[in-house]
Amino acid sequence: MKKVINEQEALSILLSGGVVALPTETVYGLACVAENSNAVERIYNIKQRPKDNPLICHFYSVKQIAEYVNTLSKTEETLLEHFCPGPLSMLLPLKDNSPLLPATGGRNSVVARVPAHPLFLALLLQINKPLAAPSANTSGKYSAVNSEMVIRDIGEKIDGVIDGGECRNGIESTIIQVQNDNVTILRPGVIGPGEIADVLLNSGIKATIQYGTAVQTTPGARYKHYAPNTPLTEISELNQIKIRDDESLITVDEYFDVQLQERCISLGSLSKPEQIAARLYKTMFFLDQLNVKKAWLYLPEIPDAHWNATIRNRLNKILHTNPTE
Ligand code: TXA
Ligand code: MG
Repeated sequence: MKKVINEQEALSILLSGGVVALPTETVYGLACVAENSNAVERIYNIKQRPKDNPLICHFYSVKQIAEYVNTLSKTEETLLEHFCPGPLSMLLPLKDNSPLLPATGGRNSVVARVPAHPLFLALLLQINKPLAAPSANTSGKYSAVNSEMVIRDIGEKIDGVIDGGECRNGIESTIIQVQNDNVTILRPGVIGPGEIADVLLNSGIKATIQYGTAVQTTPGARYKHYAPNTPLTEISELNQIKIRDDESLITVDEYFDVQLQERCISLGSLSKPEQIAARLYKTMFFLDQLNVKKAWLYLPEIPDAHWNATIRNRLNKILHTNPTE
């Protein structure tokens, strides 16, 4: 297989029912035409993803989303128009007998988004059909934020990857659901409740915003995700442990330990949480290349509450979820 492919090659592979990895502004996605049940099945096999975990779908525009779902409420439309293209995904009820049922595993709802990446948008425009594209990683592993991470993880199983460099955000989109003017954040991500509230306020819409327990609604929340191969243990105090020569420390700039040299990895500064988020998966990848026996994580609370929730959401899946769940 030729691993790195160009846009034209990706287009013809997708149109003939193939599976390619594509860059988005969040993380790389593993894409196929959402209507194509054989291609969808290949994505499940490549990712070793549990069959009850439906695939997020990517659209060219809000107008195209509207063609597939029930009439959008004013709140849904306002939020989509404001944030698309961008890292906001919305759980929406599908029209009856939807062609997207292969991607949603037969569910009558879809998680929809318009990715803010010119290569991905160009393909969506030319194909003129939604593309299913979960994150381009083996289930249970951290998401890929560059083409090298994709190739190392699933390169042998896919039909190619477009190299779009590093993903700008480096962490997955925010998933929301709107019900009767209640906005529920099912998965925290790049866009926070403050930005959502501002948009609603500016449009004169009264709505409440809360974090939801995603487990019932988005099946992916049940499974262990994002874990590195290197055993990683969180500590609540730095002086709790002595870091041995064959161990590594992941922390933030404020607690960087120069004596550990390359075995100390900083995620960035607590005052720049978007940088910590952007570096999280890359750091897991880097850690796995370091070949240390184990790693410790020291990450104090991030002052920005939404970023703290977003990063904690991913860390909880790395550190605490029972892999057999
Ligand atoms: O930023 C992102 O959202 C990236 C890029 C590639 O777009 N995609 C991504 O996909 O993170 P994935 O599959 O790793 O996460 C999507 C989440 C999963 O937890 C899945 O269970 C949930 O969305 N989901 C997808 N379709 C759903 C549906 N119809 N109903 C409920 N949950 C759904
Ligand atoms: Mg994922």
